[in-house]
Amino acid sequence: MGFSAILRHAALCVLLSAASIALPQNSTAASSSSRKDAAVLILGGGVAGVIAARTLYQQGITNFIIVEARDELGGRMQNYTFGVPGKQYTIELGPNWIQGTQTGDGPANPIYLLAQKHNLTTAYNDLYGSICTSFYDYNGYNNYSDVFSDAVDAYTNTTIAAGERLDQQLVDLNLQTGYAIIGAASKTPQEAVCTYYQVDWAPEETSWIASSWNNNFTYDTDVGGFSDSNDMCIDQRGFKVIIQEEAQEFLEPQQLLLNHTINKIAYSDTGVTVTTTEGTSLTADYVLCTFSVGVLQYGDVLFEPTLPSWKIEAIQSTVMATYTKIFLQFPENFWFDTQASIHSCPKSMALYADKQRGRYPVWQSLDIVDFFPDSGIVFVTVTGDFSVRIEALPDEQVQDEVMDVLRAMFPNVTIPEPLDFHFPRWNSNPLFRGSYSNWPASFVGGHWENLRATVADRLWFAGEATSLKYFGFLHGAYFEGLDVAQQMAGCIQGSGCATLQHVQNVMNAQPYPI
Ligand SMILES: Cc1cc2nc3c(=O)[nH]c(=O)nc-3n(C[C@H](O)[C@H](O)[C@H](O)COP(=O)(O)OP(=O)(O)OC[C@H]3O[C@@H](n4cnc5c(N)ncnc54)[C@H](O)[C@@H]3O)c2cc1C
Ligand SMILES: *[C@@H]1O[C@H](CO)[C@@H](O)[C@H](O)[C@H]1NC(C)=O
Ligand SMILES: *[C@@H]1O[C@H](CO)[C@@H](O)[C@H](O)[C@H]1NC(C)=O
Ligand SMILES: *[C@@H]1O[C@H](CO)[C@@H](O)[C@H](O)[C@H]1NC(C)=O
Ligand SMILES: *[C@@H]1O[C@H](CO)[C@@H](O)[C@H](O)[C@H]1NC(C)=O
Ligand SMILES: *[C@@H]1O[C@H](CO)[C@@H](O)[C@H](O)[C@H]1NC(C)=O
Ligand SMILES: *[C@@H]1O[C@H](CO)[C@@H](O)[C@H](O)[C@H]1NC(C)=O
Ligand SMILES: *[C@@H]1O[C@H](CO)[C@@H](O)[C@H](O)[C@H]1NC(C)=O
Ligand SMILES: *[C@@H]1O[C@H](CO)[C@@H](O)[C@H](O)[C@H]1NC(C)=O
Repeated sequence: MGFSAILRHAALCVLLSAASIALPQNSTAASSSSRKDAAVLILGGGVAGVIAARTLYQQGITNFIIVEARDELGGRMQNYTFGVPGKQYTIELGPNWIQGTQTGDGPANPIYLLAQKHNLTTAYNDLYGSICTSFYDYNGYNNYSDVFSDAVDAYTNTTIAAGERLDQQLVDLNLQTGYAIIGAASKTPQEAVCTYYQVDWAPEETSWIASSWNNNFTYDTDVGGFSDSNDMCIDQRGFKVIIQEEAQEFLEPQQLLLNHTINKIAYSDTGVTVTTTEGTSLTADYVLCTFSVGVLQYGDVLFEPTLPSWKIEAIQSTVMATYTKIFLQFPENFWFDTQASIHSCPKSMALYADKQRGRYPVWQSLDIVDFFPDSGIVFVTVTGDFSVRIEALPDEQVQDEVMDVLRAMFPNVTIPEPLDFHFPRWNSNPLFRGSYSNWPASFVGGHWENLRATVADRLWFAGEATSLKYFGFLHGAYFEGLDVAQQMAGCIQGSGCATLQHVQNVMNAQPYPI
């Protein structure tokens, strides 16, 4: 069945929907497929959606449909062809790193395993070691590497203190407060940029305790983490290829509806009906919603009836962070060493300390032997409010600001205008509304359960944001797609249906003494 056949089928099912009202709650896949479009509608074709689909398939459930607004699978995994003709490269606008790989034959990051399976080309990229001596500020080069070493230690100290708070059941606090409490608050622009490099990838309100376990469960092998290193995707097919090729192994054309943006999800005791902006309507027994929590927060999708208050509180209590890579291509590299290998302090990364914290602080060169030699490409990252700020500016103005910073970093170099310039606007993108979720201090265990919990036995939720251990990461999305689909399969097959339970009232972590 082709794409247009799905549409016809969908239209037919709208006409037939009155007949489907009386379906039993635990209707089996077989009985539902005769009346509804699918047993499960998987909303969103990112990592969570595709892995959920694969999981259902592996459980023998094939009457599902992935509904995706974009024209391809991969979600936030998005590549872009950057550079002038003759010097074009596939770069990553979204995720770029397999964060935490594998140590010996210990637990492996499932994204790392997918990358191996699909022969993804990656390069070792230790985000801490690669800084080496590339330190700049508003006066040009300035070797503040000892400040950086202290910042690495201070971060470790905050994670140790966070572990103690967890053990002692002390109340959570903002990570920045944690820095101040242990006496490591940044005082100078140089200290600020070094701390920024440790923690500001998700800069909005950050939980001291959750950010610590999030780091540990990925990087610290003592608690089951994968490894302390990162691999960067440099595959010219794009990072998304691992998800697209994985989908190709099991997904039938009729199980995928691309180019369809959902604007309404209606649910009742008997099933769900989702509607798209194109006017298509699809019915199913269950929905698995994998939209980013930013999309849910913004209200891009209408739920009918309105989601229960415990779900709304959970959605609105988390934070959707924004992280932006700004790419520049120059006729030639004038910045860091291009000859050295990544393994011998290649200076592939540099920090720029501005008097304004967060102003074009982290620079990464792609023009090194292990990545894209002679590409002339460098990128700078900004996050949080600064990302939101530049998204509202025209490209030319952002380019001018970035060039001012580069000229401050290299006062003795005559820097030409870039040949190419590009950055994505993740925060204003209605399909994402940010880059990845972040756990603030006021988000407590009950909120996490409720973010993940099933609504009315019909609506299920999965994605990086619902992952306790790995929120934010690709592997968080992977594990959630896997786990939630396994639970759904139990319900669909009647082999024991345990929906994910919610907490009716999330209480204070500790009662206030008043
Ligand atoms: C800039 C950036 C850098 C990152 N870097 C890394 C990294 O290096 N390493 C790492 O591990 N993680 C990184 N991440 C995080 C990683 O990308 C996410 O954790 C992961 O991709 C989330 O997958 P998901 O399936 O939960 O959500 P998504 O990928 O967001 O999938 C949800 C899907 O729903 C679709 N959708 C949304 N709204 C609608 C609608 N109304 N109708 C139909 N479809 C809709 C979207 O198009 C999307 O395809 C980064 C993210 C960004 C943005
Ligand atoms: C599920 O189906 C079984 C067998 O068809 C039935 O006995 C049971 O009552 C149903 N459960 C619910 C919750 O509808
Ligand atoms: C989706 O839309 C794009 C752009 O409009 C189009 O090129 C593509 O063929 C469409 N894909 C499908 C599967 O309909
Ligand atoms: C992503 O990469 C693929 C493979 O190189 C390419 O065909 C496609 O055009 C790229 N997408 C964009 C938006 O550049
Ligand atoms: C990956 O490469 C190996 C060795 O070159 C090859 O045998 C295998 O078929 C490739 N797999 C994929 C998915 O391309
Ligand atoms: C930078 O400073 C550190 C510590 O003071 C020193 O070990 C290193 O050699 C310096 N690097 C350069 C390039 O001067
Ligand atoms: C980290 O903690 C150790 C042990 O308490 C202490 O000696 C060190 O000064 C701390 N480092 C920073 C940068 O706070
Ligand atoms: C994180 O790891 C550190 C170092 O192993 C440990 O001391 C700390 O307790 C852990 N933090 C949490 C919140 O688990
Ligand atoms: C830049 O030029 C000035 C003036 O000639 C000189 O003092 C300074 O050392 C130079 N800086 C670098 C990084 O070469």
